[in-house]
Amino acid sequence: MIFYFSGTGNSQLAAKMIAETTSDEMISINNCLKKGKKNTFQSKKPLVFVTPTYAWRMPKVVEQWIDETDFAGNRNAYFVLTCDGSSGNANAYAKKICKEKKMQFNGIASIPMPENYVAMFPTPSEQECKNIVEAAKPAISKLAIQIQKGEKFPEPAISFRDKILSGPVNGIYYPLLVHDRGFTASSKCISCGKCARRCPLNNIVMINGKPLWKGNCTHCMACIAGCPVEAIEYKKSSKGRHRHYIMEE
Ligand SMILES: Cc1cc2nc3c(=O)[nH]c(=O)nc-3n(C[C@H](O)[C@H](O)[C@H](O)COP(=O)(O)O)c2cc1C
Ligand code: SF4
Ligand code: SF4
Repeated sequence: MIFYFSGTGNSQLAAKMIAETTSDEMISINNCLKKGKKNTFQSKKPLVFVTPTYAWRMPKVVEQWIDETDFAGNRNAYFVLTCDGSSGNANAYAKKICKEKKMQFNGIASIPMPENYVAMFPTPSEQECKNIVEAAKPAISKLAIQIQKGEKFPEPAISFRDKILSGPVNGIYYPLLVHDRGFTASSKCISCGKCARRCPLNNIVMINGKPLWKGNCTHCMACIAGCPVEAIEYKKSSKGRHRHYIMEE
């Protein structure tokens, strides 16, 4: 069973490629989070978790969701983290989750994909994003074949810096930087409601045809990057930056 969380589509694409090769079904963690119910899954095939990297680890909402979900059947677990460069020591935290959930850790792999963090960092142009996605595909296919064959992923090399980034830096990153107070919608907004429908945490309500952020945000970038008319900005930092968004409905 392929479980994926994705704000802007990179991880969804990786999950699709893996599901096609392994002839396995895909489960959207976004949809599960939106429904807000406790889930139980029964899988004959290995459990494959495909997510973006947030602060050198799996997104906290995904770690929590795995923790709260019941998995029956096959206990072999793989983790595929899309990133823009480094997933740090996400390895250690995926192993910890496996231990707690009594799953067999079959490895973690990072796949560089386009930077989607338009609220915080400069993002690549549309053409650069296309090139990065194409360059990532052979590595994703290789992982898919390893999963199909039941092979473990090789252990990644972890530096002291990786441990600091995924540990204490991750710990201060969320309370310090992950909030929705910087989001605004301009007069370009056409009241389509896509931002509200796509938010995996149901954090956006439409009031008089305009989005209002309610204070429970994980910075997935689905709202700002997926707005069809680029009406959403994050403070001044997102102005003029390309929005990478390849998520399919
Ligand atoms: C909140 C946030 C934190 C991120 N932190 C990292 C990071 O620590 N390391 C990294 O390489 N990329 C980081 N990125 C980039 C994303 O992991 C990368 O673009 C990912 O492929 C996006 O996947 P998605 O399109 O499935 O949402 C971050 C992006 C966001 C939005
Ligand atoms: S997605 Fe953009 S245009 Fe649509 S409601 Fe949200 S802000 Fe407005
Ligand atoms: S408010 Fe926007 S950035 Fe925050 S979780 Fe929802 S869609 Fe993602």
